[in-house]
Formats: sequence, structure tokens, C-alpha cells
Amino acid sequence: MQDGDIERSGAKSAGEAGPKKVFVKSYGCQMNVYDAQRMADVLAPEGYVETATMEDADLVVLNTCHIREKAAEKVYSELGRVRVLKQERAAQGAETKVVVAGCVAQAEGAEILKRASVVDLVVGPQSYHRLPDLVRAAKSERVVDTEFPVDDKFSALPQPAKDKIRTRGVSAFVTVQEGCDKFCTFCVVPYTRGAEVSRPVAKILADVAALAEAGVREVSLLGQNVNAFHGEDEAGRSITLGGLFERIARIPGIARIRYTTSHPRDMDEELIAAHRDLPQLMPYLHLPVQSGSDRILDAMNRRHTAAEYLSIIERVRAARPDIALSSDFIVGFPGETDAEFRDTMRLVETVGFASAFSFKYSPRPGTPAADLGDQVPEEVKSDRIHELQDLLVKQQRAFNAATVGRTVDVLLEKPGRHPGQLAGKSPYLQAVQIEDAEARIGDIVRVEITAPGSNSLFGRRIEETAIA
Ligand code: 5AD
Ligand code: SF4
Repeated sequence: MQDGDIERSGAKSAGEAGPKKVFVKSYGCQMNVYDAQRMADVLAPEGYVETATMEDADLVVLNTCHIREKAAEKVYSELGRVRVLKQERAAQGAETKVVVAGCVAQAEGAEILKRASVVDLVVGPQSYHRLPDLVRAAKSERVVDTEFPVDDKFSALPQPAKDKIRTRGVSAFVTVQEGCDKFCTFCVVPYTRGAEVSRPVAKILADVAALAEAGVREVSLLGQNVNAFHGEDEAGRSITLGGLFERIARIPGIARIRYTTSHPRDMDEELIAAHRDLPQLMPYLHLPVQSGSDRILDAMNRRHTAAEYLSIIERVRAARPDIALSSDFIVGFPGETDAEFRDTMRLVETVGFASAFSFKYSPRPGTPAADLGDQVPEEVKSDRIHELQDLLVKQQRAFNAATVGRTVDVLLEKPGRHPGQLAGKSPYLQAVQIEDAEARIGDIVRVEITAPGSNSLFGRRIEETAIA
């Protein structure tokens, strides 16, 4: 908003009058992006409007990530900047309340209040529905809420208004499952997000229907372990993620379904079959393997072997031959030898990934692997990550290059970088830019890919009629 100063001075002279502004910054995974939206939604009835600039926010929320060391450190350095801002605003007579939410909040709790005096409220991911009360309480004292409450957070979180959904775009996230019981030995998620819980099917379908009514064309179903999703249909029969997809595919307006993140152990037959049978399910699978070495996989408590992973990939490819595959990798897990790292490189060569995320192992306090003696030196981790990333980048380029000359459906999501351009996504989650005067955001258009770019592909629409 451009008139922030006017509103702020108005709010000053009239006490509580005038809209208050909330700025939410998210770190880490897509679930945090989704949670940030829900936080804004729950604060909207309290009179908070979202702002894209921290400088004019009365309430600053840092929605943090704890998965790797650097992510948490980034939060503390950001809090340093917030502190300066809070002082500057205070000098002008404006109050700023500062909230730390997300997984660092959950993991560190009151420790954050000690380390960062700028913070007024610390709230864990399971308590977002209580934000209005907590923010009110934080007016008079510093507050910490990192409980795992028994009440259903999602039922208590309000639906966003239709116009809000529209401003967020034609592709939307929906959390269907939260938490994790897998306890990989390197990972903090089971401690920060808690035990695995699936949301009720009827509630998910109602959320998706409301999104579709507001013009959403694509839903990405989120969960830390999304393919562990399980629920009951109308008749009380149990259904898995594949069954949920089928029901979502029947909702008018929903043209595309995506999901993330999956665990190899939960890649069941129904889900694989959905990749063959459901045209709305996009041919893209993010299936983290972490390592190609059986000994390391065992030490990570992944509970599958490299061969089992490859056999899942084979079955998925049999169901959907053109599927784009993506994964997460960790190099330098405690005790990882060079030969074991070679096993990872070999697995990557064997699969051929369309995209991937790779990380140097970072010990997380409270996780079993952090206490292992055999930590890998930093230089070795760096060498390995460079080698792995070189290969993954090469594979990604090859995948994108193979799309050139092909015709793909592109969901147009936003204006492109230059006037007259529109930007969207291919079924394989590739960013695509087209020049087009007629097509509109929300259309799914047939596009011939003409050239690869550094970050996105370029194409031209080959059909006059957009899919309604
Ligand atoms: N060190 C490095 N990478 C990690 N990940 C999770 N925990 C750690 C850690 N301690 C990575 C995994 C996971 C992704 C979300 O983050 O690859 O799949
Ligand atoms: Fe973490 Fe493993 Fe659960 Fe994924 S499956 S969230 S890596 S514990």
C-alpha cells in the first residue's frame, strides 16, 4: 500500500483506529508459506491488513525454519534488523510488535526471548489459531506458546475471503497432513511439528472447493510426510492420498493437483496408479532419497535401501513414463566415506533428476545423528556438495533442453518479466514465459517450447482457445 504513512499517523492520533498492518516473512518450506497465509487470515478479523514492507508494519511476524543451521541463524540476524526498525518507528511514536513463529519458535521457545530482546511473542506452528489472543496478551507482557494443543488448529483457522484467495493467485497450497513419525536421525521435524496427523477428508475437500470457487486452478497438497496421508471417505472407508486425489479431481475448476513432500516408504500402489489414471495429477514427484548408500540410509533410519528406492522409481515411471523426478540429498552425514558418497552419485546417474535440493549435513541439537562421533570435516562436505550439485544441475539442464520443441500445457500464473509476457508452469513444474496479448492468468494454454533460458523456458501459444 502506498498510503502507509497516512494510515499510520491516522492510527496514532486515533489510538486503535485505522487498519493495523501485519508483515509476515517466511523461511524454509512451502508449508511455512501456507502457514503465513493462514496467520494473515486469522489476524484479518482483528483488523490487520497485510503489507509487503516491513517498514510500515505494526506487527512483524518471522515465520521461521529450523531444518538446517543456517536457517535459524538467518532469523537471528533478521531480528537484528527488525530491532533497528522497531527503534526507528518508536522514535516516530509508532509501536511495533515482533513475533517469532514456526519451527525455530517451537524448538527454542523462551530461549528466543532471552537471546533477542526485540521479540514480544514466540508461537509454535500448532498454535496459530490462537494468534489473536496471543497478540493481545503480548501488548502487556512477553509471551511464549509452544504447546501442542489438543484442539484442531485447522478447524479454528478461518477460511480466507474470496478476494484474498484471488490476490494470492491461481495456484494454492492446502495442508492435508502435518507432522512426522519417521524420526530420520538427522531431522528436527518430528520434534518441531509433532506427530503425524491427517486432516479430515471432508474439511480438505471443502477448502479446495472454496479455493476453486474463487478461481484457483491448481492445488498443491502439503504435508511433511504427505503420502502418509490417511483418512475416511463419506462411507467411513479408509482412503489414502491417491483416493483423496480422485475426490479433489472431481471438484469443478481444479485442473491440476500436486503434492509434496513424500517418503519412499509410503509410495503405495494407489498413489502410483493415480499417476497413471488421473490426468489432473501432474507428472512431477518429489521423493527424497537423501543418500545412495545402504549403510548411510540405515544410519539415517530411512528404513529403505537404494535398490528399493530405484524399484519405486521404476514402478512410477511405468505408470507415468514422462514423470519429472525430484529429490533431496544430504552429503557428509556422520561417517559417510568417499565410497558411500560415490553410491549417491551413482544413484543420481541411474535415476536422472529433473530438479533436486542438496544439503551439507548440519547437526541439529536433540537429533540422534548430532551425537555421532564421526562428523565429516567441512571441506569434505563442501567438495562433495559441489560435485553432486554439478551433476544435478547438468541433469536439470538436460531435462529442460529435452522439453524444447515439445508442446506442453502451461498454467498461466502471473505477468512475465517484460510487458506483454505471461509466466506460468509446465506440468513438470518448469517456469515458462510466453508473449501473448489474448491469454489471461488462470488459463491453461498449449505452448510449444522454443528455447531454454537460465531460469525459465520460452514458448509460444499454439492454440487459440484457452481451456475453460
Ligand atoms: N542437515 C542437512 N540437511 C537436512 N535436511 C533435513 N535435516 C537436515 C540436516 N540436519 C534436509 C533433508 C530434507 C530436507 C527438507 O532438508 O534433505 O529432505
Ligand atoms: Fe524429517 Fe525424515 Fe520426517 Fe522427512 S521423513 S520430515 S526427513 S524425519
